[in-house]
Amino acid sequence: MRSISTFVILIASASCLAASPSFTIDASRSAGQVSPRLYGLMTEEINHSYDGGLYAELIRNRAFLDDAKSPVNWSVMTDAATRATIALDRANPLNDNLPTNLRLTVTQATKDQPAGVANSGYWGIPVHPKTQYRASLWARAEAGFSGPLTVSIVSNDGRTVYASENISGIAPGWKKFEVTLNTGKVAPTAQARFVVTLDRPGTVWLNLVSLFPPTWNDRPNGLRKDIMQMLVDLNPKFLRFPGGNYVEGIKIEDHFPWQKTLGPIDERPGHAGCWGYRSSDGMGLLEFLEWCEDMNAEPVLAVFAGYSLQGDYIKAGPQLEPFVKEAVDEIEYVIGDTNTIWGARRAKDGHPAPFKLNYVEIGNEDSFDKANTYDGRYAQICDAIKAKYPELKMISTIPWAQLGGRKADMVDQHDYSATDEFIQKARDYGSQIDRHGPEVFVGEWAAHEDASARPWDAAAQKLPPTPTMKAAIGDGVFMAALERNADVIKMQCYAPLLVNVNPGARQWRPNLIGYDALSTYGSPSYYAIQMFSRNLGDEILPVTPSGTSVQGCATRDSKTGKIIIKLVNPELAPQSLLIEIKSITSLKSKATVITLAGNPKDTNSLGRPRNVVPVTTTLRGVKPCFTYTLPPTSIVVIKLRAR
Ligand code: AHR
Repeated sequence: MRSISTFVILIASASCLAASPSFTIDASRSAGQVSPRLYGLMTEEINHSYDGGLYAELIRNRAFLDDAKSPVNWSVMTDAATRATIALDRANPLNDNLPTNLRLTVTQATKDQPAGVANSGYWGIPVHPKTQYRASLWARAEAGFSGPLTVSIVSNDGRTVYASENISGIAPGWKKFEVTLNTGKVAPTAQARFVVTLDRPGTVWLNLVSLFPPTWNDRPNGLRKDIMQMLVDLNPKFLRFPGGNYVEGIKIEDHFPWQKTLGPIDERPGHAGCWGYRSSDGMGLLEFLEWCEDMNAEPVLAVFAGYSLQGDYIKAGPQLEPFVKEAVDEIEYVIGDTNTIWGARRAKDGHPAPFKLNYVEIGNEDSFDKANTYDGRYAQICDAIKAKYPELKMISTIPWAQLGGRKADMVDQHDYSATDEFIQKARDYGSQIDRHGPEVFVGEWAAHEDASARPWDAAAQKLPPTPTMKAAIGDGVFMAALERNADVIKMQCYAPLLVNVNPGARQWRPNLIGYDALSTYGSPSYYAIQMFSRNLGDEILPVTPSGTSVQGCATRDSKTGKIIIKLVNPELAPQSLLIEIKSITSLKSKATVITLAGNPKDTNSLGRPRNVVPVTTTLRGVKPCFTYTLPPTSIVVIKLRAR
């Protein structure tokens, strides 16, 4: 990483008449109000974002539904002295939603040499020192066998038992068992498995085997603390969920089944995800909403709109009605009074208070619908929602102001571009926006380094899962363009947000935040977004760059008078700029500067999580006109205070 201290930060009063490269900020007027919801997050089940990611469940294939033929991610645990078999068994199921059990038959085992079944988790079970894990499972046994059954977290080589508890009282009928597993003073590792063993011959059936570490806000079916901290640190104002493609599903019947994601986890069947793996639906509608609450962000709810990824659609009209009802009911679950059917269900699920909701997105990327049926579908769904909830704003997924005669309140337009493309288009971004049309939501965007490895290309799979500093530069110029136009662009969010970095876990790149079972890190793009979202005024100030490739934006906090300038230097060389703040006669001489700089190829990873991070410094002698030198390939936030 290149240290910013190796570059001389030049600051001097200057005439501002000099014909040098300059960046002028006009503080005499505001070019518009910055939307209070500008920075948010977008999320869906991709790259093991939830299962094997944010959702803290550690057992993979906990309900034995991931594969119809074999208990994938489970393995029999025997050695030379023991004998056991495992198999899927659909006789005497736990309930209609979880119809498949795991049968464990032990034919040879002793106290000293137990046998059983192991789960390898999502690329390992994370063992943290002095930590309390909540293990639970449903079990029944053949007549005459009452246990005990032992649940443990054990090293992969079987030599270290990190935590262990016995369960007794197993009987021929299904019974739920819960135990606490406490680890001692151990070195953190993910080279571990969760095991269920018998110390004598016998047959048991298991279902919904679960293991949770401590979660954010101690929610029982909760979220991973380290990833949540990263998200909260982004200061998001909204969360767009549950997709993305995930809301649509590959086929109509695979769209996000919000009703089936409610209630106890041992009644959730899960569903086929659209990114090549099944979803447990432990991350259900209520968990999404509580996740918003825990981040102090408002939900931007995407409802299924009758179009799925393989191109099948439901025509507007009577056939669409069940889906329209589904969308309206979903909104009732989110904001309905407790005397409504779905509001009452929300209360039963533990959240009587309605959630805050202002925006509903109808579908996702419906411009891919070759049959052009969105107009009718949008109109029908929009009318039904507005009839019941006139206060809600509808987001269209195609960039048309009029859809089936209805005016969209907002349009969602996605932009995945290479850094050089963003540098080009960001300069004049304002002229591409229809200022008389609906509000704009850039509901998915990200810079990738190189146009030859677009996010969906196979070539992208060969690159690291998270982007480099070069991509952060693309993100920086794009965010500056969005901020300059934040009077019309009301919301924006990077996508995808999360990636499990283990081989085989991802379907897309680049992604903002990476993790494995044990730890997490932010990409340079993560820190760029953090710098932008945490430093934002409410008034847009017009800016004019001249004679420079630096792009930027400026906002003012109308309450404090603070002026926040954001500058992005895409060059490999430092750039000196004359910064002039027009119509300000005096400024406090000290300013705060936050700098993210590095070589274009620099990046962060699990091994080097803080290789490229922002550095905060104090700038002295600030005047309404001063010279500032930006380090090569850098993003700089300067916070000035009026005197
Ligand atoms: O962000 C990945 C995918 O890109 C989203 O699911 C989809 O909406 C877009 O095409």
